[in-house]
Amino acid sequence: MTTGKRILLIIGGGIAAFKSLDLIRRLRERGHRVTPVLTPAAEQFVTPLSASALAARKVYRDLFDLTDEAEMGHIELSRDADLLVVAPATADLMAKMANGHANDLASTLLMATDKRVLIAPSMNVRMWEHPATRRNMERLQGDGVLTVGPNEGPMACGEYGFGRMAEVPEIVDAIETALSDGPLKGRHVIVTSGPTHEPIDPVRYIANRSSGAQGTAIAQALLALGARVSFVTGPASVAPPHGVDLRQVETAREMRDAVRDVLPADAAVFAAAVADWHVVNAADRKMKKDGSGRAPALEFAENPDILAEISQLETGRPELVVGFAAETNDVVAHASDKRARKGCDWILANDVSEGTGIMGGSENEVTLISGAGAEAWPRLGKAEVAQRLAERIAAALSEPR
Ligand code: CTP
Repeated sequence: MTTGKRILLIIGGGIAAFKSLDLIRRLRERGHRVTPVLTPAAEQFVTPLSASALAARKVYRDLFDLTDEAEMGHIELSRDADLLVVAPATADLMAKMANGHANDLASTLLMATDKRVLIAPSMNVRMWEHPATRRNMERLQGDGVLTVGPNEGPMACGEYGFGRMAEVPEIVDAIETALSDGPLKGRHVIVTSGPTHEPIDPVRYIANRSSGAQGTAIAQALLALGARVSFVTGPASVAPPHGVDLRQVETAREMRDAVRDVLPADAAVFAAAVADWHVVNAADRKMKKDGSGRAPALEFAENPDILAEISQLETGRPELVVGFAAETNDVVAHASDKRARKGCDWILANDVSEGTGIMGGSENEVTLISGAGAEAWPRLGKAEVAQRLAERIAAALSEPR
């Protein structure tokens, strides 16, 4: 259990705001200091006086309060905390956060902070399921915002479904986890992600369909366990995670150079779908049809195998090197062979044959191949695969060498 931390608690305007008063008490019982911030809508549900009495501190309500600004400006308020918690996080507050609004005290504090943010969403089930909220939620998670809940159950409005704010003990647990250092604290992990683009001429390139979703989820899971993450990514279609050391590259050769540049590392996870070849005779001007009807002949040369290169480093090899293998048949045999050939420690192998729906989908079914053998994981969401992998990496790095 952590104690003595500073929590800035933003209370949004939802019926669950009454639970946030109890949250203040429970956090104070654990020795934390809680500074409440009430949105104008929250004041329709709980009073500033009750929040202030329970916190035994001043409550902040207004961005343009001259006394507050003179005593402690809003920028300082957002920094003078170990963690920002938004409970209840209403659909409106989430939309403001996802879009970077800063037009009242709560949204300005959330934009100005350099600390982690945990939200406890709370809203009607239809609002929770609305495509706008789904989009906002995805964006917030991509920005590194931590979430707890919502839960499924009966709602104050009489409907049933997801949208109930998490219960106070669950929020307290999530706060404790967010405040703890995590097993990968002080560890540096490199993650490669996305496709690479290999130019043919200044406007054309050869690419593949990798979205970067699995690599991004892995980086987020490693960050959540406290790792410092260098994220080397090709031109992916999903946004890179917030909070990483971001290295954006285009070609396989640039990816190799960027990986070498961020060494040394404790572990490296090679989730990128790296092109095997590049075009040697790429033109420096746009290629034109010459009227003969003949297509240009492209010549290819092999790209560096980054996974193999890093696995076989004589000096400065990360303690744990993890690769991926996409196979369509004899998955374990092919992936075990790849592990031996490349010299990495683990391979996460997946069956991408037609009908599995894995390529480009939101789920993954992998087998972890290590020196100890093959371990089949159940079919899981990509975020859950990432979490399991991050936990396994944390366990492996904590073993005595
Ligand atoms: N990899 C790499 N650099 C390359 C090629 C691949 O780092 N130039 C890494 C990938 O990030 C992945 C693993 O190696 O971790 C995949 O190896 P690869 O030999 O490309 O396997 P497949 O993509 O499964 O293809 P194939 O077996 O057909 O070669």
